[in-house]
Amino acid sequence: MGYSERGNQEWQKDQEKGQTTMADILDGKALAATIHGEQAEKVAFLSKKVGRPPGLAVILVGDDPASHTYVANKRKACHRVGIYAPDINLPASATTDAILEAIDTFNRDPAIDGILVQLPLPSHVAKDKVLLRISPDKDVDGFHPANLGLLVAGEPGLVACTPRGVITLLDRFKIPIAGKHAVVIGRSLIVGKPMALLLLNRDATVTICHSKTSDLAAQARQADILVAALGRPEMIGRDYIKPGATVIDVGISRGTDGKLKGDVLFEEVRQIAGAITPVPGGIGPMTIATLLDNTIDAYRFHAGLTA
Ligand code: GUN
Repeated sequence: MGYSERGNQEWQKDQEKGQTTMADILDGKALAATIHGEQAEKVAFLSKKVGRPPGLAVILVGDDPASHTYVANKRKACHRVGIYAPDINLPASATTDAILEAIDTFNRDPAIDGILVQLPLPSHVAKDKVLLRISPDKDVDGFHPANLGLLVAGEPGLVACTPRGVITLLDRFKIPIAGKHAVVIGRSLIVGKPMALLLLNRDATVTICHSKTSDLAAQARQADILVAALGRPEMIGRDYIKPGATVIDVGISRGTDGKLKGDVLFEEVRQIAGAITPVPGGIGPMTIATLLDNTIDAYRFHAGLTA
């Protein structure tokens, strides 16, 4: 049993005895594979009952190579677990109206439970108009104001995939949340804000930090659970970490050497943290697993299977 299950006090006792070990690695890739296996069983069972599989429309606009890779991974994961996922690729020249039309088609399509428009969109497209057009019950990204409102109210609704994936990872690794001090670095609508609200809804004491926060390291050092979602490669070093803390690295950027880098200096921080997610192989695969969970939740809702 590692530190993630034993907690900070145990870590400190071991340190006093000179018996520190490296942080537990929270293997999101392996966990996501386990979850995909469970999803495949669930989908096979429910598809028989409902008479159709769940459906997810992933809409890709333009030629951004990173977006193409992300979307290919999402569609592949859908096919692997038995979710119907048609390819919708629109040219970079697609107008806002053309994208709205595609969304309207899928809003009406009873074979489609979830709609995701991959971001970023080309700069000529009215992004807010596009995201608002997705029916809230098919909004598997959780970006629609109706779903954001439910999250603020602590009511059930569709929640952004990355932050929901972080909560799933903490739960599966039995890392307690209630009563803990969580510090979220980043205030984006995709990660930081929903992450803070999810942690708050699970009874953590939550601090949100951002680019204007003074003495960020001192704030971060208060964290039992530190979520780094600032998008600055390898900025979080040992000075930001309370010994034994759980460190969740949401950052992902490609270095000049072509390698993927997180926001956390992994080799340095793992010597002081209690548990840590790697990049790659941490939160990235959990985001995709959660997209499929959201799609299955929307499907169950459309099929009248939710209480
Ligand atoms: N681009 C990068 N992350 C995301 C995400 O979570 N959802 C969508 N739609 N696009 C993204």
